[in-house]
Amino acid sequence: MSELQDNVAKRRTFAIISHPDAGKTTLTEKLLLYGGAIHLAGSVKSRKSNKHAVSDWMEIEKQRGISVTSSVLQFDYAGCRVNILDTPGHQDFSEDTYRTLIAADSAVMLIDAAKGVEPQTKKLFWVCHKRKLPIFTFVNKLDRYGRSPMDLMDEIEKVLGINAYPINWPIGIDGHYIGVYDRLKNQVELFSSDNTHGSKMLKSTTGSLDDPHIREAIGEDNFKTLKDDIELLDMAGDEFDLEKVDAGELTPMFFGSAMTNFGVRSFLEKFLELAPTPQPRKTKEGEIVTPTDEDFSAFIFKIQANMNPAHRDRVSFMRICSGVFEKGMSVYHMQGQKTVKLSQPQQFMAQERTIVETAYPGDIIGVFDPGIFSIGDTVCSEKHKFFFPDFPVFPPEIFARVQPKDSLKRKQFEKGIAQLSQEGAIQVFKQKNIGMESFVVGVVGVLQLEVLEYRLLHEYGAQLLMNQLGYSVARWVYSDNPEAISNIKGLDNGMLVYDQQDLPVILVNNEWSLNWILERNPGIRFLTVPQEAKSI
Ligand code: G4P
Repeated sequence: MSELQDNVAKRRTFAIISHPDAGKTTLTEKLLLYGGAIHLAGSVKSRKSNKHAVSDWMEIEKQRGISVTSSVLQFDYAGCRVNILDTPGHQDFSEDTYRTLIAADSAVMLIDAAKGVEPQTKKLFWVCHKRKLPIFTFVNKLDRYGRSPMDLMDEIEKVLGINAYPINWPIGIDGHYIGVYDRLKNQVELFSSDNTHGSKMLKSTTGSLDDPHIREAIGEDNFKTLKDDIELLDMAGDEFDLEKVDAGELTPMFFGSAMTNFGVRSFLEKFLELAPTPQPRKTKEGEIVTPTDEDFSAFIFKIQANMNPAHRDRVSFMRICSGVFEKGMSVYHMQGQKTVKLSQPQQFMAQERTIVETAYPGDIIGVFDPGIFSIGDTVCSEKHKFFFPDFPVFPPEIFARVQPKDSLKRKQFEKGIAQLSQEGAIQVFKQKNIGMESFVVGVVGVLQLEVLEYRLLHEYGAQLLMNQLGYSVARWVYSDNPEAISNIKGLDNGMLVYDQQDLPVILVNNEWSLNWILERNPGIRFLTVPQEAKSI
């Protein structure tokens, strides 16, 4: 096996998707604990008293206790190089989550045992499902009272329409589980409690269900219930089929508790065994790029300015798709039609950065970016040039007019707006007759406006005047006659603005207004995103 093949085989790159509060931060932290990347997981209590989760580094996240931006966490475990793409939990930042999922090879769907499948779980599941991403399910919070495992499995299958195969099954009574039974290994894992409240790894004993000591430790009642459950699953459930998992048609299901570490190690080990290695990617033209192709390629899926206020820098995150990345190498930037040197390549662990010497497909690196990259851009070798498909565009639903409170801060204001727009944090529109004094910004979730306000003040020193507009629908307008657009009729309750490419867009209150306008302007067409772009 070549070094490249060997490194590709070791990589597992995935994202955790869940409804807020299901325990994503806690599970991420525990995976890092087991992976040896951190030595003491900050329990939620200490997190509340100001020790924040390692993946939360933005000031606003700390203040609000929500995870806004995605970062990438890396560790080694059992011969694998694990890349966890951390995604924001709050639904207002789902654009960022969707983009991050494009960089993943699989997803872990986290479910709260008491709540089951929640609205945000459903939305994110569909994004993964549409992309045929393999999905692994972790049912969390098993240390406390929840719904029955059978019930949860049934809900996943019915509500999400994917078959589930429980890899392990809880032993004991709801809320007092003492271990799990591994159906593939035919092995029992019993947990001994400790007094560290999950801050350290949990000790456990493993053994066969036929072992009399294990049977005694489980107790007769629990033993009988477990036997009955397993029999039922074996008889009525699906066969385990890794091909179906890879095709996103069957989800391996695990039970555990991220807080108490119950089942975390066995989940991690099994997940790494079953999860896909970096997958081939299609180019825009439909050509297949295999990770083991010697020619380097990657795409930008996230841009973040001012990650470290002390450095005032802008970092573009790229997912490597093929070939080997080496420090100091030059690559061809397709959108810019230029050869560029990727400077200061870094990997991130919360606020700690390390310079990358070499990186392989599946890895994410952040490179210092003087402002040349945009989200979805392709970089590749000069020898083999191609584009990866464009990223989907999100139709904004919330709009606000923004201007600097102090006109002396106009420069900082404009710089901030331009950079946050390149990051994909906001969409910026302007009105023809208003010029640069104020802009209209469009977002998907209202919290994004708060982040905009906060970041402009803290990172660019410009206080905002923000006026939320009553519109909720944006449409890109097309017509063979440009005059017809600038003189559009029936827009009394709406607004005509222009996007960054100078394409005309109308903002209106509701779908009904769209019909009203269409009836009055023959030859006009509306699109939810620009013509060239793909909608999510
Ligand atoms: P998120 O990133 O998905 O939003 O969730 P996070 O890890 O922050 O966890 C949300 C809450 O759920 C936290 O409680 C956390 O301690 C708790 N939690 C996570 N995993 C488990 C688990 O396995 N068992 C139990 N019992 N709780 C778990 P919190 O911050 O104290 O909030 P709250 O409980 O006061 O709402």
